[in-house]
Amino acid sequence: MQDYDNVRGDMYPMPWDMAPIHRQNNPLFMLARTAQSVEEFVATLRRRVRGQAQPVWLSSSLYPQYYTKTYHYQTDGWLSDRSARIYEHNTEVLFLGRQDAMQRTSLLPIASYMREAALAGRSPRDMKLLEVAAGTGRFHTFIKDAYPEMPSVVSDLSPFYLARARNNLNYWRALRQPGRRLGGVDDTGVTRFLQTAAEQIDGPDQEYDLVVCVYLFHELPEAIRRRAATEFFRVLKPGGMVVLTDSVQLGDRPSWDKSIGLFGDFNEPYYRNYVSCDLGAIFEEVGFMCDTKYLCSATKTLSFRKPLE
Ligand SMILES: C[S@@+](CC[C@H](N)C(=O)[O-])C[C@H]1O[C@@H](n2cnc3c(N)ncnc32)[C@H](O)[C@@H]1O
Repeated sequence: MQDYDNVRGDMYPMPWDMAPIHRQNNPLFMLARTAQSVEEFVATLRRRVRGQAQPVWLSSSLYPQYYTKTYHYQTDGWLSDRSARIYEHNTEVLFLGRQDAMQRTSLLPIASYMREAALAGRSPRDMKLLEVAAGTGRFHTFIKDAYPEMPSVVSDLSPFYLARARNNLNYWRALRQPGRRLGGVDDTGVTRFLQTAAEQIDGPDQEYDLVVCVYLFHELPEAIRRRAATEFFRVLKPGGMVVLTDSVQLGDRPSWDKSIGLFGDFNEPYYRNYVSCDLGAIFEEVGFMCDTKYLCSATKTLSFRKPLE
């Protein structure tokens, strides 16, 4: 309902994946995804009952130690094509069909930013957005659908998830902007698919107008959250905005406070620390000003502004 109200209020377009010709409405596509998801749910449940996560198959010193945990007991953690292929379906099931709608709350502060920019005579074409830890890029397609002309960078640490994101962006373009040359990789308007860590972003200072980060902070150790916030500040232009979307925390929905930490039992080692961490204080400490807060079911979206110099 909240999602629909936002569409009616002209904050963002009707979700493009509702088009009847979208592949997710093809019964064969859905059947294949459902079969893979059921298989994954059984494997995950087995590990959860035993309390034993599977070690990740890939040994690499290129990744931080906390990253190679198999969060949620999922097979291969973030490091396989199989994991990336089933991620969207699994999380939609886990959140009882609310995942996309919760993520789209991130479009609210972006819409306010765009309106403010329009008053100053700037258009999305003149801006640049970075999505950090974009995963399979599914949410990025909703950003693109709202602002197809805005150049953007899709980043994540997992090359497997980035490859999936490229596939999703190509599919979005084929369906929504057929034949249109948006520039960047595959003419999707994504100037780069960037393999980089949130806490050490590969790129110069003050490159972006907007940094968006969805469902990452609850998976980071506290010190890394601070480093990521510092990096967001560094890569943003003065006046730029961070949009941070993640799980609700203690006090956001007081009636959930007693049970909220239980999600930490799903091999989410930093979740209990996350729910009690003061995100506003972290962002203020590195120089941001707190801006807006929206709640949508189990998710919240915060925005922070980098002061104008
Ligand atoms: C829970 S998923 C969220 C993905 C996507 N934002 C979404 O909402 O669907 C977490 C993602 O963060 C990425 N990730 C985890 N730690 C990271 C880090 N330090 N830097 C960049 N990406 C990271 C993982 O590879 C994974 O794709």
